[in-house]
This record gives sequence, C-alpha cells and structure tokens, in this order.
Amino acid sequence: MRIDTHRESDTENAARALAGRLRAGDILLLSGDLGAGKTVFARALIRVMTGDDNMDVPSPTFTLLQTYDAPEGTLWHFDLYRIKSPEEIYELGWEEAITDGIVIVEWPEKMGSLAPRDAVRIEFRTSPEAGRILTVTIPEKLKDRFSS
Ligand SMILES: Nc1ncnc2c1ncn2[C@@H]1O[C@H](COP(=O)(O)OP(=O)(O)OP(=O)(O)O)[C@@H](O)[C@H]1O
Ligand SMILES: [Mg+2]
Repeated sequence: MRIDTHRESDTENAARALAGRLRAGDILLLSGDLGAGKTVFARALIRVMTGDDNMDVPSPTFTLLQTYDAPEGTLWHFDLYRIKSPEEIYELGWEEAITDGIVIVEWPEKMGSLAPRDAVRIEFRTSPEAGRILTVTIPEKLKDRFSS
C-alpha cells in the first residue's frame, strides 16, 4: 500500500489510522533516510495509543529506546541508528519487547538479519515535491487485521 503525504499532518494521520489496528506482539519497522519522517510517524502513533495528545515523545536517537504504557501493552520505541552491531538490541531488552509489547523500530537496517520477518514495514521516501511517500507492507499473517 502506498500513501502520499504532502505535509507532516498527513504523515500523522497515516500513523493514527494504523494505530487502532496494532496489538500486543506487533512489530513495526520504519525505514528511510535521516529526516524522512519516521519519528513524526512514531510520535503520532504513540500519542494515539497512550491516549495522551500531549505526551512528550522525544526521538530515541541518543537513548536508543523510549518506552510508554498504553492500554494495548507497553510501547517500545527504538532508534537503532547508533548501534554498532545487531546484537546490541539484546542489551536494550529486545526479547522482552517482542514478547508482549508493541515494538516500533527506526533504522531496522541496523539489526541486519535479526530483523523480524513477520513485521509491518513502512518505508519513508522523500518525494521531489517535498512530501513523503510511505510504502506499507503487511506480512501475510496480519493481512486480515490490517486490510479490512
Ligand atoms: N510529509 C511529511 N511527513 C513527515 N515529516 C515531514 C513531512 N514533510 C516535512 N516533514 C518534516 O521532516 C522532518 C522529519 O523528521 P523526523 O525526525 O520524523 O525524521 P526521521 O525519519 O525520524 O529521521 P532520523 O533518521 O534522523 O531519526 C520533520 O522536521 C518534519 O516536520
Ligand atoms: Mg527519527
């Protein structure tokens, strides 16, 4: 599925639309260049899922991980840009995150082959008109929940 966004609020609306379908155990991989809109997307998603429009959602660029309590489960927001090797995700609590959390990952490329297969993937591309093109890929086993 392809979503064209022309401004930040479009990307936020796309995140809000997806948020209602996420359940504990889901993993969302957000890829794309620096400044492509991954954190904008994650922030809108986290605010909807926590039910707090004013929730402070800093980019985890330096902390690598921020967590939030939400009715659906704990939200784990990772930014792996600064990790040096894929195995560092284990030190960040990855196993616990994927057990019953809802996991949002910026820079999943840094996980290499540890990146989970059954994840929802969103690729962010900056388009010439200064918008963002989001390409969403839903794994087979989640298609029913996400496409209805
Ligand atoms: N259509 C759009 N969707 C999302 N962000 C947009 C859009 N148009 C412009 N922007 C701007 O682009 C920037 C995206 O920044 P953001 O921090 O979300 O990027 P990122 O992908 O998380 O980068 P990084 O890899 O550094 O974490 C913001 O300043 C936002 O206002
Ligand atoms: Mg970011």
